[in-house]
Amino acid sequence: MSGSKKKVLAICGSTRKNSTNEAILKGLAISYKEQLDLQLYTGLAELPHFNPDIEDAGLAQSVKDFRQMIQKADGVIICTPEYVFSLPGSLKNAIEWTVSTTVFLNKPTALIVASGMGEKAYESLILIMNTVGSKIGEHAAILIKGARSKFSDQGVPTDSQTKKDLEKMMNSLLQTINTHSS
Ligand SMILES: Cc1cc2nc3c(=O)[nH]c(=O)nc-3n(C[C@H](O)[C@H](O)[C@H](O)COP(=O)(O)O)c2cc1C
Repeated sequence: MSGSKKKVLAICGSTRKNSTNEAILKGLAISYKEQLDLQLYTGLAELPHFNPDIEDAGLAQSVKDFRQMIQKADGVIICTPEYVFSLPGSLKNAIEWTVSTTVFLNKPTALIVASGMGEKAYESLILIMNTVGSKIGEHAAILIKGARSKFSDQGVPTDSQTKKDLEKMMNSLLQTINTHSS
């Protein structure tokens, strides 16, 4: 029954057309459609640049919506490439908009860095999401190196280790969500 499905907000760190990271999220949405209502957040590129002064002056509707989507979700998946040994600026900007809030506090969260290399972004994303209070279960953060060659265009893993890692990650996220809501 769709009414009992857990809601997961999927945030893609790449705003590129034909993004591998977006394909991975879309692939997960299909694979887990019986258990989860996985909604892709599409507003990353529309968020204004973070500025703490704006908090007092009046927030853009896009920022309010983004925060509310995280707040309402049972869980969040962030899937991102590495850009210049760090997180893509647009993803970091989006996370900055949540720092003065508690929307990520205890939020069951899974992290995927799917990139050519990705170690620095992976390290950084774990640090950042722990800092905002996300609940990241064991095996819920994964690094997929050489990502472009490991997925079909539909985001289906073509590599057995990657498939296993994704399954473990999703199981961990589902377990954290279920523990959290029980
Ligand atoms: C500006 C720029 C910088 C990049 N820097 C890195 C990097 O530091 N490390 C890395 O692993 N890949 C780097 N890449 C490669 C991307 O991570 C890779 O193309 C990835 O597949 C993009 O993800 P997407 O297909 O979801 O857009 C960079 C790509 C661009 C466009």
